[in-house]
Amino acid sequence: MINRILKLIGWIVTGVLLLITAAFAFFYFQVEARLAKHYQVIPQYLEVSYDSAQLAYGERLTLVKGCRDCHGDNLSGRIFLDDPALGRIIGKNLTRGKGGLPDDYSTDDWVLAMKHGIRRDGKSLLFMPSYEFTLLSEEDMAAIIAYARQLPPVDNQLPDHALRPLGYVLTALDQFPLIPAERIDHSSTLVRKVKAEVTVDFGKYLANSCIGCHRPDMKGGDPIAPGFPPVPDITSAGNPGKWTESQFMEVLRTGKTPEGKTLDPANMPWNMTAAYTDTELKALYTYIKSL
Ligand code: HEC
Ligand code: HEC
Repeated sequence: MINRILKLIGWIVTGVLLLITAAFAFFYFQVEARLAKHYQVIPQYLEVSYDSAQLAYGERLTLVKGCRDCHGDNLSGRIFLDDPALGRIIGKNLTRGKGGLPDDYSTDDWVLAMKHGIRRDGKSLLFMPSYEFTLLSEEDMAAIIAYARQLPPVDNQLPDHALRPLGYVLTALDQFPLIPAERIDHSSTLVRKVKAEVTVDFGKYLANSCIGCHRPDMKGGDPIAPGFPPVPDITSAGNPGKWTESQFMEVLRTGKTPEGKTLDPANMPWNMTAAYTDTELKALYTYIKSL
């Protein structure tokens, strides 16, 4: 009797293990196929000039658009995610030093990466949030490229990306934003310039830096990855709807909310919004209030 029960348990355990292995194999091959997909995109031509006003403007944009959060303060790269279950993701060294971009990395390659989330070999970049940059104006994109290109080369050879089991499962279930090229409308064209003024339109333009986490409707949702807090609703239906303009500006500059919460910049990148001008924060507030 005992023997028969043990045998039965043995079969059940084997069955469950087989099922888990089969499910994981399915997720693994699904994700690998998506990563191997080749995109045929011809990047839009972009004129880049290197005068000092452009460079200063570009330097500021690498801060306020969040590039430095992932690529490091001097854009020489950093490991910004290393989780035993999820994987290791490297914010690439964007200088021309060792481990950085090749010497012949062209303006087209920059546009492919920032606007389309595509590497020069035609495959999607990993985790680079190009869906937040795909609608940058020509003026802003060109200034960022100009600034990044003239940075002194820094040698910083980082290890490769490594996707681990949970990373595969969550990517397969669309719960981890690993493959940016899938989330972008590759046929859109860049607008020339967006006027910096306190308007809903300019606020909406700036909010492209928020939608990767707060979602396109700014209503938030599940954590962006395991280990991160849920993302709050920041439309007028959420807490910001109750804040005055100056309270809103205070939150995005200090990370402290009127409800007494302190936001961790590792979860909510307010070190990026702290560098926004008054006009930019007011425009964002105007946009959020309109939702
Ligand atoms: C959330 C983190 C994150 C942010 C923010 C971010 N990047 Fe990236 N970026 C990455 C990662 C990760 C890669 C490496 C992708 C790969 O190797 O597949 C990458 C790759 C790139 C590449 C492509 C390099 C190549 O191998 O072709 C460029 C160019 C780039 N980023 C520029 C920028 C710029 C400019 C900004 C700001 C406007 C920015 N990134 C913001 C994470 C980020
Ligand atoms: C990398 C993901 C990410 C990005 C990008 C991001 N946020 Fe957040 N934000 C969060 C998370 C997560 C929280 C909640 C943090 C917590 O609970 O500690 C948050 C909280 C907030 C809060 C506080 C809400 C409340 O109810 O207290 C405001 C306001 C906010 N974000 C505004 C913005 C704006 C505006 C932008 C774009 C300029 C932006 N965020 C970009 C992830 C992000």
